[in-house]
Amino acid sequence: MHSLARFALAGVFLLGGCRASDQANQAQPQAAEAAIAPILATPDAIDTHSYARPLEARVTHVALDLTVDFDTRRIAGTAALDVDRKPDAKEIVLDDNGLEIESVTDAGKHPLAFKVAAKDVNLGAPLIIALQPDTRRILITYKSAPDAPALLWLTPQQTAGKKAPFLFSQGESIENRSWIPTQDSPAVRQTWEATIHVPAGVTAVMSAPRIEQPLTQGGESVFNFRMDHSVASYMIAIAVGDLAFKPLGPRTGVWAEPPTIDAAARELSDTEKMVAAAEKLYGPYRWGRYDVIVLPPSYPLGGMENPTLTFLTPTFIAGDKSLVSLVAHELAHSWSGNLATNAVWNDFWLNEGMTTYAEGRIIEELYGKKAAAEHAALSIDAMNKAVAENGGPGGADTRLHLDLKGRHPDDGTSDIAYEKGAEFLRTIEANVGRDRFDAWLKGWFDRHAFQPVTSAMFLADIRQNLIKGDKALESKLMLDRWVYRPGVPPNLVRPPANTFAEQDRATTAFALRGAAPSAWADWNTEERLRFLNRLPRKLPESRLDALESAYDLNGASNMEIRFAWLDLAVSNRYDPALASLERFLTSQGRGKFVKPLIRALAEDESWGKPIAKRIYAEARPLYHPLVTRDLDKLKL
Ligand code: BES
Ligand code: ZN
Repeated sequence: MHSLARFALAGVFLLGGCRASDQANQAQPQAAEAAIAPILATPDAIDTHSYARPLEARVTHVALDLTVDFDTRRIAGTAALDVDRKPDAKEIVLDDNGLEIESVTDAGKHPLAFKVAAKDVNLGAPLIIALQPDTRRILITYKSAPDAPALLWLTPQQTAGKKAPFLFSQGESIENRSWIPTQDSPAVRQTWEATIHVPAGVTAVMSAPRIEQPLTQGGESVFNFRMDHSVASYMIAIAVGDLAFKPLGPRTGVWAEPPTIDAAARELSDTEKMVAAAEKLYGPYRWGRYDVIVLPPSYPLGGMENPTLTFLTPTFIAGDKSLVSLVAHELAHSWSGNLATNAVWNDFWLNEGMTTYAEGRIIEELYGKKAAAEHAALSIDAMNKAVAENGGPGGADTRLHLDLKGRHPDDGTSDIAYEKGAEFLRTIEANVGRDRFDAWLKGWFDRHAFQPVTSAMFLADIRQNLIKGDKALESKLMLDRWVYRPGVPPNLVRPPANTFAEQDRATTAFALRGAAPSAWADWNTEERLRFLNRLPRKLPESRLDALESAYDLNGASNMEIRFAWLDLAVSNRYDPALASLERFLTSQGRGKFVKPLIRALAEDESWGKPIAKRIYAEARPLYHPLVTRDLDKLKL
């Protein structure tokens, strides 16, 4: 862009920025603001994964003006931070992971002294900025590092459309400090706005409403976004690429690369209904629009609940909506997680367990009781597996409230948080009755909207507003045991025992006699998964041949089924699945699928390891840092 045009543009956006910031501050409900300080002061809310000391000086608003540079793989520009501080605070501490900081000034452009202290491998480093007595706003000029862990830069070749490069970010849990210098703790909430410059021809979307029409001039497009609700920093997200949009309903729509957009829109046709179902359960959807973006195949997650714009893996597209519980899950986070947010990663279950519970309820509203019961039965299987994988019923990491000090928060993202958390809530529901539980849960979201929450707050709230002194109920629920002790308490309430009776009979019969059940054709995805996952992990080769020839599992286009099959195939060293396995591992990078398969191969020294070596070498450029960080540890 010509320097004159750039100057003119900068002027326009500077004005826009000031206005936005004023409005954002007005929109911030004072009561919610005032309620946060006492929460931050409780021992359970001390975040060992952030260097910030928010009780001394806290960031309340972030205004970004950033340029996305695909050539250098950097995001560069400025972050203007509004600071709420104690009058005698001498410094403010931000989180930083590999940022190249050029300068730090106050609002009047006077330099402020700053230093980046020693770096921790998990947490990054504290960025400590000296405050003058009157400093209320800080301007940081910086660049992200080319290997920033929050960002994945794809070449055109690595996208579905192969035309334009692609960038997306993943902030949760503590990765956003690698591209935004702010207080990166889920307990610290901030409103934010962003002006994003990208090369002309690509589109930028973020986890906030777009304000103003994008402007393209001189080879550059400029997009503006503003989030007036205060959010945790991990909820700030960006994606840039060749993106098309299709509306799904009045307040829902989908973004995707052009080759994916039609299939994505078809698969997502229930989205508007899901929002309505969630609102019926948990009160108004408070974020305005609910859009989703379907990312390129290397997206490392199933989904991520970025406010107003859920990020989704393309692997949920099965052609028959059989995997859309993923959307119900990310949507449910609009209440559990995005409204009431775990203050610290030790209480991750408050985000994920509540969401997994609510996901089941949305499924029930849309697809009926049978679907929900099957979902819940699979959840119990997943919980039991997670208990076994985390040291058994006595394992410290099988508690809901974790102690992750000294570890990466992602160590706490097991199915304990998701499934034991959901089972806890199902157990409470079964004991108090659905109507009472629903009223309590809706009230919980209202009482803690836009605020951090802890396990201790959860327990206090449930005692005050649900148990209300009922001693018999208190002892029936075993609340503290569920939250603070390992294993699964004996009052676990299970879905009806006959939920998968047919599949379980078929599993036993097949393991004994070996005829692939023909009822498979009538089974839904959950039923097929139950059957495959309950088969003995070691089977005669003829049984695997029978399955493959009856169901064409090597060619399964439902990625959950394909994964369940490949998992079984690897544990049986089943060579006829290898070509399918290689295609699967080199065509998508979802961590939930690729990590267990590559790990299982690697653990099989003589047969699997050479295969893992070869496939990982080919697949690694496709995978996200979140995934390679784990897989690199296998030293393949
Ligand atoms: N919030 C999570 C994703 C996440 C968790 C990112 C921890 C980083 C750290 C998201 O809502 C989620 O749970 N995604 C699941 C899918 C869901 C249906 C269980 C996933 O990606 O597999
Ligand atoms: Zn989730």
